[in-house]
This record gives sequence, C-alpha cells and structure tokens, in this order.
Amino acid sequence: MTAFMCDQDVAQRVLEHIANGTTDAGEGLWREPVQNYVCPRRFADEMQRVLRRYPIPFCPSAALPTAGSYVARSAAGIPLVVVRGEDGVVRGFRNACRHRGVQVAQGSGCARAFRCNYHGWTYRLDGALQHVPHEEGFPGLAREHHGLTPVQVQEKAGLVFVTQQQDAIAANLDELPVFFTPDQQLFNSREYTLDVNWKVFLESFLEGYHIKPAHKETFFPFGYDNLNLVETVGRNARITFPFQRMEKLRDIAPEQRRVDGLLTYVYHLFPNVTIAVLSHHMTMLILEPVAVDKTQVISYSLTHTTLKGEAGVEKARNDAAFVSTTGQAEDIALAKSIQASLHSGANEVFTFGRYEQLIAHFHRNMQALLKA
Ligand code: FES
Ligand SMILES: [Fe+2]
Repeated sequence: MTAFMCDQDVAQRVLEHIANGTTDAGEGLWREPVQNYVCPRRFADEMQRVLRRYPIPFCPSAALPTAGSYVARSAAGIPLVVVRGEDGVVRGFRNACRHRGVQVAQGSGCARAFRCNYHGWTYRLDGALQHVPHEEGFPGLAREHHGLTPVQVQEKAGLVFVTQQQDAIAANLDELPVFFTPDQQLFNSREYTLDVNWKVFLESFLEGYHIKPAHKETFFPFGYDNLNLVETVGRNARITFPFQRMEKLRDIAPEQRRVDGLLTYVYHLFPNVTIAVLSHHMTMLILEPVAVDKTQVISYSLTHTTLKGEAGVEKARNDAAFVSTTGQAEDIALAKSIQASLHSGANEVFTFGRYEQLIAHFHRNMQALLKA
C-alpha cells in the first residue's frame, strides 16, 4: 500500500467486520528467537545498523515552535541536539563540543547560541563556532572546521526526523500522512524509563488480540474482542481499534461518516516510534533503547485536531490521564512480566499469530535491514 486508508473506507471496513464477526488477519505465523531480545550484540547491531541509519522521528515540530527552540537528548545512544534556526529551518548536530566533547545543550528550551559550560566555546544556532575564549591559546585553529558536527534533519508531516549516519537507509517520508498541524497544542511532554527491551514494549501497541483479556475493565468495555484493521505503508504501519459507538455510523451515508472519537488509530513509525490518535488527544511515544533491557520513553501529547482553546486542552488532559493510568499501565505491567521471563528458558522463540501480523511486519523489516 502507498497510503493509509481514508476514514470513510476505515469506517466501512470496520462495519463489515462488526456485521460478519471478522477481523483483519495475516497469513502465517512468525517465530522470533527470544535471543533477539536479550543478546547485547544483537542490541548493538540494531542501534548501529538500523536506528542510526534510519530517518527516525525525533520530536513533533510543535516542540520547536520558534527560532532558537531546541531539544537535546540521546537517539540510539548518541547525544544529539536539534534546533530551529533564525531562518526557521530545523538543524541537528551531535551534541558534543568540538573542543573536548562536553554536551553543549541540555533538555529543551530556547537559546540564542550554545555555549559549552566547560571552557566557554560558543556555537551559533547553525552550528558554526562563534567564539573561543582566549583564542590565542589555539594558534592556527581553523574555526570553520570546528563547528558542531551536523546530522541529517528533515521536517515532514508535523515531525522532525533525524538520520545520524552517512550510509543512510532509504525511506520514503512522503508516503506518511500529516500527523500534527500547527493549530494542535503540545500540552505535555515527559520521559520515563522502563526496565524492558524496547521491542517488547513496542509489540504491545501493534495488535488488538490482547484487548479483551489484558484490558478487560479499561479499554475493552468500549471496544471489541479481536476486531482491528491493520495496514502497512512501507515499513510503517497502522492499527485501528474501533469503539462500539462506531455502529451509529451505519445510519449515515458512507461519504459523510466522521470517525473522530469513534476509534483509536495507532501508527507505528518504523522502527521505534508510535503515534496514537485518541478521542481528544494524540500521543507520540519515542522508545529510545538505552540497553538491551532498558528503554527510555519520551512522550509528547498534543490536543486532537477537533479541539480548540483552553477547554480543548482540559478535555485532552483528561483523556490522556485516563489512558496512561489504565490501559497503558496494564501494557507496561505485561511488558515487565515478559521481560522477567526472557531468561527463564521457557521459550526459545515467541510465536506471533495471524492477529499479530504488524509485529511480524516489524521483525521482518528489522531482519532485512540487519542483513543489508
Ligand atoms: S569542552 Fe567545550 S569548551 Fe572545552
Ligand atoms: Fe494494550
């Protein structure tokens, strides 16, 4: 597929599944060796061969609202900083002073320049080395060769993508829908660390087979047992979780159907980012692999496109609080439970079934790129 289905086609297909008691399903099984979740060498290969070579969503454009807005954090274990320049263009750099490597930016904020807090070397927002205190101490130093080291940045679909290495893997960002528009408010960003492998956590987002048993009292009462649409576009994917209130669309002409508030979309942006579109808000989660058994989750929440003003933010906050304290907490507990058993020897492989085909799609792509 070259694009995700439009909302009207989604509505039609969901209504057919409801009527027929069916769901989207893949062909066969996928068997993933458990070793691939625990082996430090495999983890290092995933970082080196995939995450540092792929254009990876780094933050929403909304996190860089004005000239000088920056976000500094590690991506695939490498400290980076992205910043919107005076010219409005977003640039990215390895976050390391060209004197002796101290990180020149921390966290997020707005800066006119980056000044290293070790010896005071100062860089412009475009990375150029602007000032060296007591420069006579560096006879012959070519300032133009000591600017911050750039990484490739693309701003597309309301997101900022970063590719760290020159030997980049080709990925078509034009096939992505626009996720965030400028009228959506970024109302929350936070980080937390989970003692789980990044792929174990990721997999919890990519199938709806678990909704009834795992979210019995939280998500399931609004939804269905094992009823989802799954789509792939390139290496990316989307899973649709319809709510029961979707059925009221039966009485509406197909071309007039609106799905806002009637379903949840979860996009998987290969390899380590999810974007969930919920009733009143959208959350982007970046799963930053820290170690084979540790993942830092960076979360950005924005208001849904349908909401305006302060009342909208309030609704979005309530929606987000419900999700994170109920269903998401359940998913995290399950991911920790899986992580605890990885070394038990009970499973040499994990078997993913026909209702878990987006997980197979993910592993198939990882496998191909690791070999490439
Ligand atoms: S390490 Fe940055 S100025 Fe010395
Ligand atoms: Fe879940």
